[in-house]
Amino acid sequence: MSIDLLLRLFCFLAAQASSLAVPQELYNFSQNLITFDDTSTTISPSSSDFHISWTSRVFSPQPSSPLVPAFFILGDSSVDCGTNNYLGTFARADRPPYGRDFDTHKPTGRFSNGRIPVDFLASRLGLPLVPSYLGQNGTVEDMIRGVNYASAGAGIIFSSGSEMGQRISFTQQIQQFADTFQSFILSMGEDAATELISNSVFYLSIGINDYIHYYLLNVSDVQNLYLPWSFNQFLASSLRQEIMNLYTMSVRKVVVMGLPPIGCAPHYLWKYKSQKGECIEEINDLIMEFNLLMRHMVKKLEQELPDGKIIFCDMYEGSMDIFTKHEFYGFNVTTDACCGLGKYNGWIMCISPQMACSNASNHIWWDQYHPTDQVNAILADNVWNGLHTKMCYPMSLEDMIAPKGR
Ligand SMILES: *[C@@H]1O[C@H](CO)[C@@H](O)[C@H](O)[C@H]1NC(C)=O
Ligand SMILES: *[C@@H]1O[C@H](CO)[C@@H](O)[C@H](O)[C@H]1NC(C)=O
Ligand SMILES: *[C@@H]1O[C@H](CO)[C@@H](O)[C@H](O)[C@H]1NC(C)=O
Ligand SMILES: *[C@@H]1O[C@H](CO)[C@@H](O)[C@H](O)[C@H]1NC(C)=O
Ligand SMILES: *[C@@H]1O[C@H](CO)[C@@H](O)[C@H](O)[C@H]1NC(C)=O
Repeated sequence: MSIDLLLRLFCFLAAQASSLAVPQELYNFSQNLITFDDTSTTISPSSSDFHISWTSRVFSPQPSSPLVPAFFILGDSSVDCGTNNYLGTFARADRPPYGRDFDTHKPTGRFSNGRIPVDFLASRLGLPLVPSYLGQNGTVEDMIRGVNYASAGAGIIFSSGSEMGQRISFTQQIQQFADTFQSFILSMGEDAATELISNSVFYLSIGINDYIHYYLLNVSDVQNLYLPWSFNQFLASSLRQEIMNLYTMSVRKVVVMGLPPIGCAPHYLWKYKSQKGECIEEINDLIMEFNLLMRHMVKKLEQELPDGKIIFCDMYEGSMDIFTKHEFYGFNVTTDACCGLGKYNGWIMCISPQMACSNASNHIWWDQYHPTDQVNAILADNVWNGLHTKMCYPMSLEDMIAPKGR
């Protein structure tokens, strides 16, 4: 490691640490545009300064007119598109090399070298890239095609991820959506707002931080209090309750994403001293069990809510397909992150361009936890129509929004 890199690392950590310690600086860090109270949801959109101009960029294949009115996203770093740029946290992807293969070749807050799955799906739906809740200007005009509330580090459990700093928990994200819904009602009337929301797609990708930053860290002795089975039950029933809350706000079309095989992530290969890059089975077993439970929960919920359409997409299955057929997909680096430090580049997070490989296109992992945009493209194709492998139950997103339905 070069001296320069060490210095950067030190400055980065020092800057982050002091911003976390001194609230005043933290607010200045966020440009005084947000007020944050950890126990409520007073975070509101910034003024227009941050409006991002690439929303008009068109990807192919894109239908000529939108297939649904809007696309709303709730979740964690798997789908954060800039929320955390406004928060005081270690979990930020707003500096190079993040975004280097994105359309603008600039960091946006996405935890990848390029696009994240919801970017690919927005274009499949015929919609522009969805702005983050804190990055848009708060007008109905700016939210009417959808909003992304996802925040890196967030979990289903409120305190998951708290050691990283600020994040918008899942429950807070739902409250932010409730605010958006209120604005729609005020601006277009209750019937039109309800019509818009019930025809729009909601994408939920949350839960991995309840393992990474809570269960696996044994926070508050949780591993003694909850066996994996009952912890999984607890998470699944919390998520079910939140989906019911969305349902009472007229949400009818929901994609629930399962969790990825985080036991294969470079960070855990490093931490659990994987010898030849073999995945950490005890972690993957937990995740697989959670996904099974979720799939079952979604199936039951579908039966209970006859006018709702809820699908479950198993990230674990989709990711394992990529690992086993990696050569077919063009990945020859399956264990090492493109960007990071230490064995498998899994020890220290990606914070500087010098830590990154020159071309990420043959890598599965971009950083110690997140995949490259090539992987995100494959996963998005699978969510859309099972192009490479079936991932969604009982149907794909394309079938879910098809006019005839089921
Ligand atoms: C934060 O900004 C305010 C007003 O812009 C300024 O008075 C204050 O000194 C700043 N605080 C820090 C710690 O930078
Ligand atoms: C908010 O954003 C919309 C669409 O991006 C733009 O047309 C509008 O002028 C903006 N409004 C304000 C007040 O900045
Ligand atoms: C979890 O932490 C508690 C102490 O806080 C400890 O007694 C227990 O052995 C730990 N459990 C595991 C599985 O490491
Ligand atoms: C992967 O393939 C590239 C060329 O396509 C090659 O330069 C690189 O050394 C390979 N890496 C591994 C780990 O096999
Ligand atoms: C990375 O490598 C791929 C395949 O070898 C190539 O198509 C692509 O242009 C390269 N990207 C960059 C940024 O060099």
